[in-house]
Amino acid sequence: MAETSSSPERTSVGGPFLDACQGRTPSHIPVWLMRQAGRYMSEYRELRSRVSFMELCHTPELACEVTIHAARVLDTDAAILFADILLILELFGTKVSLVGGKGPQVEPALRDPSQVALLPEPDLEGLSTVYEAVRLIRKELPADRALIGFAGAPFTVASYLIEGGPSKNFENTKKMMFGAPEQFALLLEKIGRATGEYLRRQVEAGADAVQLFDSWVGNISEADYRRFALPASRLALAAVPDHIPKIHFGKGTGHLLSAMRDAGASVMGVDEMTNLGWAREQLGSTPVQGNLDPILLLCDRETIKRHTLPILEQGGRSGYIFNLGHGIVPSTPVDNVRYLVDLVHEVTSR
Ligand code: CP3
Repeated sequence: MAETSSSPERTSVGGPFLDACQGRTPSHIPVWLMRQAGRYMSEYRELRSRVSFMELCHTPELACEVTIHAARVLDTDAAILFADILLILELFGTKVSLVGGKGPQVEPALRDPSQVALLPEPDLEGLSTVYEAVRLIRKELPADRALIGFAGAPFTVASYLIEGGPSKNFENTKKMMFGAPEQFALLLEKIGRATGEYLRRQVEAGADAVQLFDSWVGNISEADYRRFALPASRLALAAVPDHIPKIHFGKGTGHLLSAMRDAGASVMGVDEMTNLGWAREQLGSTPVQGNLDPILLLCDRETIKRHTLPILEQGGRSGYIFNLGHGIVPSTPVDNVRYLVDLVHEVTSR
């Protein structure tokens, strides 16, 4: 008997993830998890005992292996390219490294606003290892699983460059933003242009969607967001063709959701501090992604389930992608992550 073409059981190309990103009703609610490949997995830790983080990011075969392994073990609807938001800073003549316990380090830090104009013109061919990883991953990934490319948004990337590493109060970043607004805007513009070209090349290599991480932009006001961060993020997102879903996410950005959407996002990521139902009201028909607290994955299954079901209710059936509110933390048991993915699939398949 012929199936009706409107049946949600008929998965279109790209699978449930792309259906949801494009506002359609998928056969089940798609799920992927930020930091789904990382230190909570023993295979990852084993690999990292032999290879440095930066070497892993720049070796396409290894980046492919780590990406595919996580998506396969967890059975997620999307895989996210294994790389880092800081790689792009290498194109501006800085050295990026990961120092155990101290987080990522960027040298030299850019503290003097007059240095902004002197930054070298970035050559995007310098990240060809990343595009090659995208090509390898897309070839290995099943057709109904999507590959998400990504980059850091200009504000967040600039904050690492200016601070030289992670920061609590963003003192140097805000000092430049308030004290040398023209140079700060120019810095974000330079990063924004490079980021757009970087994302465009990832899409050309086979990424089905992109996510722009503005992890730390929640630390500024909406007025400063609109003046400084938004124009640069728009440059980055506008470089990606419009048929490609553009997800935009930041931590602590409940007050910025509409402004971030205005930067050109077609899907908004929501963190765990923001009520998902409220976010939906703010955003109208824009698809949303989120927002289980990643620390719940350290709890027992009953507790995970009790907190997941209401989020699925708030997300609804159309234009919704399940995810955490931020990345998986290293102490997370892998079995709990698998349980969560299965739970979302089971509860939402019909
Ligand atoms: O599975 C995935 O999510 C894909 C890979 C990925 C990584 N970083 C790998 C990684 C992605 C998408 C990122 C993005 C990223 N990197 C962000 C935005 C996301 C967010 O968390 O808000 C940020 C802010 C960074 C910068 C960065 N790189 C940080 C803060 C850290 C962690 C430092 C620490 O020691 O906790 C990194 C290193 C990093 N990037 C790791 C991984 C798996 C840990 C590497 C290791 O120790 O082996």
